[in-house]
Amino acid sequence: MKPYISAKVVSQRETVGGHFLIVLKVPASFRGSSPGQFVMVRMPNTDTPFLSRPFSIYSVYSQDKETFLEILYKVAGRGTAVFSGLRKGNVLNVLGPLGKGFDVPPQCDKIVLIAGGVGIAPLSFLAQRCEKDHNGPEIICYAGAGNLESLVGIDRIEGMCSAVKISTDDGSWGYRGTVTELFSRDMDLYVNNGSRLYSCGPDPMLRRLQELVEGRPVVCQVSLEERMACGIGACQGCVVKVRSGGAGKGLPRVCKEGPVFDICEVEFGEDNG
Ligand SMILES: Cc1cc2nc3c(=O)[nH]c(=O)nc-3n(C[C@H](O)[C@H](O)[C@H](O)COP(=O)(O)OP(=O)(O)OC[C@H]3O[C@@H](n4cnc5c(N)ncnc54)[C@H](O)[C@@H]3O)c2cc1C
Ligand code: FES
Repeated sequence: MKPYISAKVVSQRETVGGHFLIVLKVPASFRGSSPGQFVMVRMPNTDTPFLSRPFSIYSVYSQDKETFLEILYKVAGRGTAVFSGLRKGNVLNVLGPLGKGFDVPPQCDKIVLIAGGVGIAPLSFLAQRCEKDHNGPEIICYAGAGNLESLVGIDRIEGMCSAVKISTDDGSWGYRGTVTELFSRDMDLYVNNGSRLYSCGPDPMLRRLQELVEGRPVVCQVSLEERMACGIGACQGCVVKVRSGGAGKGLPRVCKEGPVFDICEVEFGEDNG
């Protein structure tokens, strides 16, 4: 089993209201991270937060022979509130990279990202990796949030995509409505032509996306954000219901068999919400 490592905070800043970008110095082994993989993070020498918290990898990069890990997160409760108070030089314990990331076939020539709120984090890492490949696919992103103030990660992803289409629930930026409504207007452009869809966001958004793609000739992978305790498949705390016959895996664990799943395999419901 991989051990937790000590990672020094290199910088931390608030990007938009209540959302933070933290940069950690990590061992070179993190260079092998794949988009969609995640890390478990906890405070050293304290039980606050008592459990580790899972976060998608927003990016991993190297500079001057050092390796850095970026996490983009929203303050949701006690643990993330503690993390948001960290400053340069503080230390966090980090376990990772964990889980199974997104799968992009080599022959794919168009990928479509559908992001809800901070769900943009793993999709941005995916875009970054695809962009580095000069023969890589065209990338189009649909990004939504409640309002302009909570739209996060847009500047970075704009630099990596041929188009970024924005929605806000209150119409304060872009299309007024949900990101799935916005995407549904263009969806016919992406079916039956080898395009791949990738998504991350709150469960109601993913459930609606599932309704849209179901029965259509298109592959859509989603990264799920189930609550987690161990992050390594030991506690069974993150099992997710899948449709019978979907994957034949019984109750897969989001941390081990996921967090990325085919959207049509997942049974979204109260237990998964
Ligand atoms: C694989 C994975 C990747 C993730 N990546 C990111 C990321 O890149 N950025 C980010 O901001 N968050 C991400 N999350 C969610 C993040 O882990 C939670 O927001 C965090 O654990 C909340 O901890 P807390 O102590 O602040 O909140 P708590 O006090 O534990 O909870 C506060 C509120 O947040 C809700 N909550 C807690 N955990 C989750 C969860 N996993 N999903 C949805 N709601 C939750 C609780 O129900 C409660 O309403 C990810 C989760 C998973 C499983
Ligand atoms: S969090 Fe323990 S099994 Fe997934």
